[in-house]
Amino acid sequence: MKIIKVKDQVEGAQKGFEIFKEGLANDAKVFGLATGSSPIAFYQKVVASDLDFTECTSVNLDEYVGLPAENDQSYHYFMKENLFNKKPFAKSYVPNGLASDIPAELKRYDQVIADNPVDIQILGIGQNGHIGFNEPGSSFDSNTQEVQLTESTIKANARFFENEADVPTKAISMGIGSILKAKKIVLFAYGESKAEAIKGTVEGPQTTDVPASALQLHDDVTIIVDEAAASLLSK
Ligand code: GLP
Repeated sequence: MKIIKVKDQVEGAQKGFEIFKEGLANDAKVFGLATGSSPIAFYQKVVASDLDFTECTSVNLDEYVGLPAENDQSYHYFMKENLFNKKPFAKSYVPNGLASDIPAELKRYDQVIADNPVDIQILGIGQNGHIGFNEPGSSFDSNTQEVQLTESTIKANARFFENEADVPTKAISMGIGSILKAKKIVLFAYGESKAEAIKGTVEGPQTTDVPASALQLHDDVTIIVDEAAASLLSK
């Protein structure tokens, strides 16, 4: 794993931007995208640039079950607001959290991933080490799955909702196995609340207790962290 320590999200965004730019120059066509606060500065940097994705495809990690795309807390909405409205892709895929047949939706999304192998995957990380919405216990070879969100994730994500009771309890997430198929992975983590998860990801044993520790199995992972998120790393 390559660890890049940055002073803040703006510097982190710049590093991520350079990786995207180089990817595009080397013919990357499919970009795996993430939501959450950690990639926002990065998307702003991309939006402000002249990078062109009109011949590219994006595949998002996850979506809450039960939120329509128009709901301002849905990940469909987040992606439109933060990126797609200003930097359109030829085709953008996000799981459908309103699917009436969830098993069929999981299968459909696995097919999307199989048809569009990801060149560069962006990730954030949950305080409990989740990637996408793959909570502790998710197997490292999982495909797209429906996930029951843990109490700690619901609490952590409640900051974006009016009330904690409004946070959906389930999500559809690309699996860890699918994430690991990306050619290149870039993870952003900022702040002290991520320090434990980053230590487990980088130095801990490979364990499903810390889903992101699966990234140790991949040979092209860049972790962009600030001082606080890196504070528990020994090296
Ligand atoms: C959610 C998303 C993850 C994201 C995580 C961390 O749970 N499903 O993809 O990494 O939040 O979010 P933040 O970057 O806001 O801390």
